[in-house]
Amino acid sequence: MTLLQVNEVTHAYSSSGFFRRSRAAAEVLSGVSLRIEGGTCLGLLGASGAGKSTLGRVVLGLEQPMKGQVLFQGHDLYALDAKTRRQLRRDFQVVFQDCYSSVNPRMTAEQIIGEPLENYENLSVKEQKRVVGELLERVGLSSGDMGKYPHQFSGGQLQRINIARAIALKPKMIVLDEAVSSLDMVHQTNILHLLNDLRSSFGLSYLFITHDIKAAYTISDALAVMEKGRIAEYCEQKEQFLLSSHPAVKGLLGSMLSEHPRYRSKERMSART
Ligand SMILES: Nc1ncnc2c1ncn2[C@@H]1O[C@H](COP(=O)(O)OP(=O)(O)OP(=O)(O)O)[C@@H](O)[C@H]1O
Ligand SMILES: [Mg+2]
Repeated sequence: MTLLQVNEVTHAYSSSGFFRRSRAAAEVLSGVSLRIEGGTCLGLLGASGAGKSTLGRVVLGLEQPMKGQVLFQGHDLYALDAKTRRQLRRDFQVVFQDCYSSVNPRMTAEQIIGEPLENYENLSVKEQKRVVGELLERVGLSSGDMGKYPHQFSGGQLQRINIARAIALKPKMIVLDEAVSSLDMVHQTNILHLLNDLRSSFGLSYLFITHDIKAAYTISDALAVMEKGRIAEYCEQKEQFLLSSHPAVKGLLGSMLSEHPRYRSKERMSART
């Protein structure tokens, strides 16, 4: 079943100067359409400035597009009354790249993970503590970590706290905006495994935004590439991506190959000749 449908979304940020009225700037999204099926992951690739995070914010209901529709379980997100939107809001969450700035440094892990529960669930103090402890264990940390502050965790551990917070309300979808990009390879791989695992346990859907084609390929079912505010290529099966002749895809695949030592040495050889 289709969980999220984006129909012909166009958006520009308005720019305003001191002496002039606010005016529409260049389009950042131009007629973007895509679909995410329940329980699947769409990897959204593209160069810096292509409009990926803007699309993520539009999908999260945080940036109203100038044109087009965002349907979440068939509901037009930007045509809902505030109460219904709040109810629906708990079903989609977000994890950003910068795990440290995503949390309040003065809050303990217990408070960070407990925040959405406090906002939406009416649990007793004891029950909330139990749920937070379970969530910590679920993301590979320990309930004994509850009293720790963000600076007492590594980047990878703190990203697990952000993920625990994101799954606290058992959402249907999570937007992961460069969520593993700042982590080293080992932590990246571990977090990708955790995300895969959570996806099968909770039937979650992901919009996985990244520059990193390897990470996207590992976790996604479908892949899309954005270029200058448009979807340049969309592959419902990620395997099709490898066969695509679109220059944007070839560029991404080329960058992946040139990272491999075998291809690097070949490139060096051909550069010498
Ligand atoms: N709040 C904003 N106000 C004005 N312009 C913005 C704003 N946010 C983004 N932009 C502009 O919109 C364009 C797309 O930005 P966006 O952050 O969506 O790209 P991105 O694909 O996520 O890039 P990156 O990979 O670097 O994160 C850029 O030209 C950017 O400068
Ligand atoms: Mg971005």
